[in-house]
Amino acid sequence: MSSGGIRGLTGFRDFFPEELALRRHIFSAWRRVGARYGFTEYDGPPLEALELYTRKSGEEIVGQLYEFEDKGGRAVALRPEMTPTFARMIAARAAGLPKPVRWFSIPQLFRYERPQRGRLREHFQLNMDIVGETNPLADAEIISAGIDALRELGLGAADIVVRISDRRLIGALLDAHGISAEDHVPVFGALDRLEKEGEDGVRGRLAEYGVEKEVATRLLAAIRQPLEELAAAHAGDEAVAAAADRLSTVFAHLDATGFADFVRFDAGLVRGLAYYTGTVFEIWDRRDELRAICGGGRYDDLLKALGGVDLPALGFGMGDVVLTELLRDRGLAPDAARRVDDYIVCVSDAERPLALGLARALRDRGRRVLYDLRPRGVGRQFKAAHQAGAGRAIVLGPQEVERGVAVLRDMASGEEREVAIETLAGPRPDETRGEEVR
Ligand code: HAM
Repeated sequence: MSSGGIRGLTGFRDFFPEELALRRHIFSAWRRVGARYGFTEYDGPPLEALELYTRKSGEEIVGQLYEFEDKGGRAVALRPEMTPTFARMIAARAAGLPKPVRWFSIPQLFRYERPQRGRLREHFQLNMDIVGETNPLADAEIISAGIDALRELGLGAADIVVRISDRRLIGALLDAHGISAEDHVPVFGALDRLEKEGEDGVRGRLAEYGVEKEVATRLLAAIRQPLEELAAAHAGDEAVAAAADRLSTVFAHLDATGFADFVRFDAGLVRGLAYYTGTVFEIWDRRDELRAICGGGRYDDLLKALGGVDLPALGFGMGDVVLTELLRDRGLAPDAARRVDDYIVCVSDAERPLALGLARALRDRGRRVLYDLRPRGVGRQFKAAHQAGAGRAIVLGPQEVERGVAVLRDMASGEEREVAIETLAGPRPDETRGEEVR
């Protein structure tokens, strides 16, 4: 509870220092991977015109919008996802950007969802997107980047799995089973619920769109097949063959990259968002205990719809909420115990001026330094040094100071030795030709 009895809003997080340490750990891993893949970082506004989302994101997200009218009477919404902003920004500069564009961002997003494990009303999301490339190498590249964003945090093929499909393949399958094009999007939506609602639930939904029972049975059987079998079963169908071929190429590239253990074909995966046009994928924890960590795909028509420039694009969003749970669960959260390097202990108040000067000199050199803010006994000061996780204590006592020395105690081993005070801080970094003093 916060001051005055006012609670934080449901589904919104306070980041206490330990939580912020984990968030920063995740973000810096994401940024390292972004840089390694040659992506540059961008950001946009957290508030956008409502229309940016109602045009293309699809029912599910639109139903979860934090939308309101601003004081100027404009219909606005807090961003529930980054892709429309990204598309708008790319469209604004499209002509001048060398292709393919590789950009990443780590926005905070807002969705009015029912808060539950892994789903809140705000979350951060790594977005990595490529614009201007239709070749399947781009699809493999973006999926590899997603895998690496998790490998960088210590997760391996035993922890996570990427489920991959292609809407063109599912679309061609629907055509092959006589489901008309205008029903594809709702049928995609029904199939997307297979994991959540089971076959019976999906059958019920398909019946609502007029899909006959027997067709539904064949369709559900088809999407359970491995890619080769599915392609073989529809050998005469050109559209299915072309889509299957393309997807096989993506898998071959991922195999060559060394990520075969991380990926699997799942024809039942279609993704909830309306704008995907090709490859779609999601990353899940292997034990299937949590919600999806990451979701993405190809959206070759969105830039045209939102910005009027006809450029193919693809990318993913990786959320921090499920990932945080997974890292904690696997013991991969960083140890935040060590807060400071040096704790300066004063035996009497007479050493205070020396301690202050020494602290400043050490901090100038980048060391993390603490000392008591009021006079206390030496024992209490050592206790505080322990609590702060100090690496070493620098003890300044009247007799030692007389001789120009301090006692240096290694806080882990308890070992002590005397050192000349004037050498304690060492040379300043600018006097060491860039060498770091740590
Ligand atoms: P999305 O599947 O809606 O895709 O979200 C991607 C990931 O964000 C999810 O897998 C999940 O980890 C996280 N996420 C989404 N909603 C919540 C929530 N309420 N609470 C916690 N985490 C959440 C997109 O947003 C697409 N715009 C991604 C994309 C980028 N596609 C292409 N480029």
